[in-house]
This record gives sequence, structure tokens and C-alpha cells, in this order.
Amino acid sequence: MSLLDRLIQRIREEGPIPFHRFMELALYDPEEGYYTRADRKLGRAGDFYTAVHVHPLFGWTLAHRATRFLTRLDHPVVVEGGGGDGHLAKDILTYWQREFPDLLDRVEYWIVERSPALRAHQEDQLSALKEHVRFASSPTQLPPFRGWFLANELLDAFPVRVFRVTETGVLERHVGIENHRLVWVDLPVDHGILETLGSPAFPGMVVEVPVGWEEFLRPLCNRMREGEGWFLDYGERRNVLRQRYPEGTLMAYRQHRVSGDVLHTPGMQDITAFVDFDLLFSLLEKLGCRVLPLERQDRFLMDAGILEVLQRYEHHHPDGATRARLAMKTLLFQFPTFRVARFQKNARPPRKA
Ligand SMILES: C[S@@+](CC[C@H](N)C(=O)[O-])C[C@H]1O[C@@H](n2cnc3c(N)ncnc32)[C@H](O)[C@@H]1O
Repeated sequence: MSLLDRLIQRIREEGPIPFHRFMELALYDPEEGYYTRADRKLGRAGDFYTAVHVHPLFGWTLAHRATRFLTRLDHPVVVEGGGGDGHLAKDILTYWQREFPDLLDRVEYWIVERSPALRAHQEDQLSALKEHVRFASSPTQLPPFRGWFLANELLDAFPVRVFRVTETGVLERHVGIENHRLVWVDLPVDHGILETLGSPAFPGMVVEVPVGWEEFLRPLCNRMREGEGWFLDYGERRNVLRQRYPEGTLMAYRQHRVSGDVLHTPGMQDITAFVDFDLLFSLLEKLGCRVLPLERQDRFLMDAGILEVLQRYEHHHPDGATRARLAMKTLLFQFPTFRVARFQKNARPPRKA
């Protein structure tokens, strides 16, 4: 039975289901979920591409910036959350292979990936570097570590609950059926939810609240004994997010086209929502981490040394220079909604020059 038919059967039996349960199945159903289907392709040949697919320069720049603190550790560990097709891991590790082979020899690179199908892609992609790479399906499987956590576009791929604030109360958006089609059904929730949503909350507003961030962050932060973590993603501080997107930020992607019809063809399109960085920061602080100021991704890449990385590459590979220069422009100008949220745990103060 197809995912759509199974969903319809379930809704017939149980009544409308909360949106996050629909999104969980649409993205991660073991057979037909968007990220779990064996034939899933990310990047230009798929439905959307991330900064990772623009050019390896993105991963090289992140690696360049992290080298400073990783080289000071005896057993540096990198943990990547949500590895996609494995390109980012490959770009980071090959950067060290080229520029810092001593670090590559010492580093252990973990990918935490919940989709078995994507994990298979990652293993393929990283076959030449396999002695440096380990896999886990959840952060609960990580050993205690000192080092660097990074995740590009991970948080936007968690299922979300969706609420609609009205003059008289808060409704939670559910998925029901009408004439064999999936439709929105809004059902009342208790008043306590307004406190969970935080402010500002005004009538007419639609708010998404991710489910599962804490289950991911808690074991991660517990196991990180010392180090720094980076979440790169689209999103904003809560205040800005709610003022700028009063109708919410849920979106679907199919063949590089954006659609607001997130209920259409479950499993065949990506579904995503912007990251509320205030929620992320409050969870990280609760888990004992020190949060650094939110940065724009373009400025972060500049500060991380993207120009220097580009110039060194051009020097050794003049043939690839034009493509790399164009890619740098894309990375700096075409990701305006992206932010970098960094946190530290027991981090050592920087060494004096
Ligand atoms: C939007 S894709 C981004 C992939 C890649 N980082 C990139 O930038 O191209 C989200 C990735 O996070 C993974 N993912 C989502 N939820 C996860 C979770 N709870 N634990 C581990 N991986 C998860 C997905 O399977 C997918 O690989």
C-alpha cells in the first residue's frame, strides 16, 4: 500500500492527525519517506541543493576555520549531524588531506544520519576515506568526544507542530481527508500552549514548533566534553521570524520549485520550516552550552577565510579558478536567509599569538 493510502487509512481510523506526525512519515517513513527512499537524490539532480552542492569551497572554508581549534586537541573528533549525500564530509576531509595531512591522520569523523538510504550514499561517497569515518543513526551512539560538531541544514528537516493563533485561542493544524484528498483541519488546543509558543504571539499568526530537537541535542551536548558546535541553516531570531513571516514558514521543494502545498504527494517532495534560533539557543543553554552571537552565513564565511582558501586553491589549480570564483559569489550572495549558530562547551581560550 502506498504511503498516501496508508495515511488515508490511518486518518479514517483515528481521525485527523497532528501535522508533525504527517511530516514525520512524509520525510522518514522507512519505505517511502522523502529522505529514506532508496532512490533519493540531493543536489542539482534532485529537488533542492544546499551550499554543499554549490562547490567544495564551502566545506573547505568550514574545515579551514575549524583547523585552528582541532589541531590543539590530542584526539580531535568531528561530528556531523545529518550528512545528506556525504559531500560535506568528503570536502572537509579532502581539505585536510591536501592542506593539513597531520590533522587528517589524527581525526575521527562521525556522521550522525537517521536515513539508512542516505547513509549508504555517504559510505559510497567516502569509500576512499573510510578509515577516518564512523557512522551513527543517533547522537546516543556517539562516544564522549572533544572536538567539533557541525550540521548544515539539519534543523530545518525536523518535523514541526503547526499552531494558528486566533482571537479566541490557539488551534493546532492537523491533516484530515476530504474526497480521498489530504486537507488541513484545525483543532483547538489547551490555552497553556501559548506560553510554549513564546512571544510575540498575535491573532492570525501561524507558528511552527519543531519536535525532536531536544532529543537530538541532549545526548550530543552530554557527549561533547570540550569543543564547539555550528548549526548552519535558514532561519531567524524569533522576533524577526514572527514579524516577517506571520503566516509561517512551512514550504515544500520539488525539482527546485517551492510550493506552499506541503500536503501534496507525501514522500515525493521535501518539507521544511525555518529555524527559530531563540528556541535553539534556549535548549543549548539548558544543556550547559555557551551560546555565541548569531551570525549571517555570508559574513561568517568571509571571517572564516573563504578568500584565502580560494586563493590557495587557485594557486595550485588554475584550471578550476573561474568555477571556484563563481561559486564563491554564489555562496556569499545567494544564501541571504542563512545564519550560523555557534555554541561552545568547556572551550579553551584562544592561544595568544
Ligand atoms: C536538508 S538535508 C541536509 C543534508 C546535508 N547536510 C546538506 O547540507 O546537503 C537534512 C539531513 O538531515 C538528516 N536528518 C534529519 N533528521 C535527523 C536526525 N534526527 N538525526 C540525524 N539525521 C537527521 C536527513 O536525513 C538529511 O540527511
